[in-house]
Amino acid sequence: MLAGRRVVLGVTGGIAAYKAVEVCRRLVDLGAHVVPVMTEDATRFVGEVTLSALASEPVQRSLWREQDPIPHTALGQQADLVVVVPATARFLGTYAAGISDGLLAATVLATRAPVVVCPAMHTEMWEHPAVQENLATLRRRGVHVVEPGSGRLAGGDVGTGRLADPVDIVAAVTARLARSGGADLAGVTVVVSAGGTREAIDPVRFITNRSSGKQGHAIADAAAARGADVVLVTTVARPVPAGATVVRVDTAAEMADAVLAAAEHADVVVMAAAVADFRPAVAAPVKLRKTDGPPQLVLEPTVDILAELGRRRRPGQVLVGFAAETGDPEERALQKLRSKGADLVVANDVAAPGSGFDGDTNAVTIYGADGRRTVVGLSSKGEVAGAVLDRVVACRAARGPDDVTPPTRSDP
Ligand code: C5P
Repeated sequence: MLAGRRVVLGVTGGIAAYKAVEVCRRLVDLGAHVVPVMTEDATRFVGEVTLSALASEPVQRSLWREQDPIPHTALGQQADLVVVVPATARFLGTYAAGISDGLLAATVLATRAPVVVCPAMHTEMWEHPAVQENLATLRRRGVHVVEPGSGRLAGGDVGTGRLADPVDIVAAVTARLARSGGADLAGVTVVVSAGGTREAIDPVRFITNRSSGKQGHAIADAAAARGADVVLVTTVARPVPAGATVVRVDTAAEMADAVLAAAEHADVVVMAAAVADFRPAVAAPVKLRKTDGPPQLVLEPTVDILAELGRRRRPGQVLVGFAAETGDPEERALQKLRSKGADLVVANDVAAPGSGFDGDTNAVTIYGADGRRTVVGLSSKGEVAGAVLDRVVACRAARGPDDVTPPTRSDP
């Protein structure tokens, strides 16, 4: 599965370093060429000999090797991916600050390959604003963070900060490599909707919402980068991926026409648009005058495009909806999975700081009809797009091209 892929496995000095051995073994089992890099402190927790024996080559620790005068750039340049297991608070701090204080820090600064960090530390350190701000900085720069879990920590304490399970770390690495391999959506037609619709009150006024279209466009960009044939149905004038078919629309009705038509030939449909649920039953043909007093707007429901897609779904087609909620989004997301017949619902709390409509970052949980859940902490919208597409790829792999099982729906 990972044959021919070169993974630098960085190990820093935390008690969880022993689990890096398990990650190493699993990556090697999957066929990866694993290049182990340890910090000096890491060697206090796990034997260099152990990691050298299990990895594809001996451990490297120093910037000053005689045979190779520039290992700090060579390792990063040659890597397909760098994963740091565990990532201590100190490592995250130096990386976020751009300080090259050793071979591993130099490697992550000198690479253009994807970097995955797997933090592990005591709860107090994990929750410290300095650590969280460093993580936010790294996420904004596109670094993938495998969130720690909660459980038993060193010294018998219990809390958040425990290194993620090695199986989940390897899954994150595999997904990231598939993405950077560039072709896991080759030949797949992906329809993406983006932006908020505008529902006319009269020729100059309309009802709309705060959607910027950034998340939908990021999904279209990411799908195109991974080889998909993209159809982007959008209400906003933002840059579009090269080669994509772009349909500009304004209203929910126009979006319904465009998306439902494109979906007839699509393998994947991602409804990232914020579609109006109601529109004025009648749009005044001429501008309403203030002197006529406040207008009495009568609203009527729009077509629920996602629910309609659920009813018309092609065999094997993957449907993704979004749930922009204020407050705890979980219950509504799960309800939406059922009522709309979607495979995945991406829930975000649009009221949470840094998450939601307008900014460049988002924090979401992806709920699957298969019961799986992926939490994506505050990240760039590109990073969120990547995580959504990882789940799409996993759905397609699980389903197979000929699976014609219709979705189960408990609500009308
Ligand atoms: O029902 P609600 O609007 O909360 O569901 C949100 C999801 O449904 C989003 O994926 C949105 O694009 C989609 N939607 C739709 N047609 C509507 C309203 C929402 O496809 N009329």
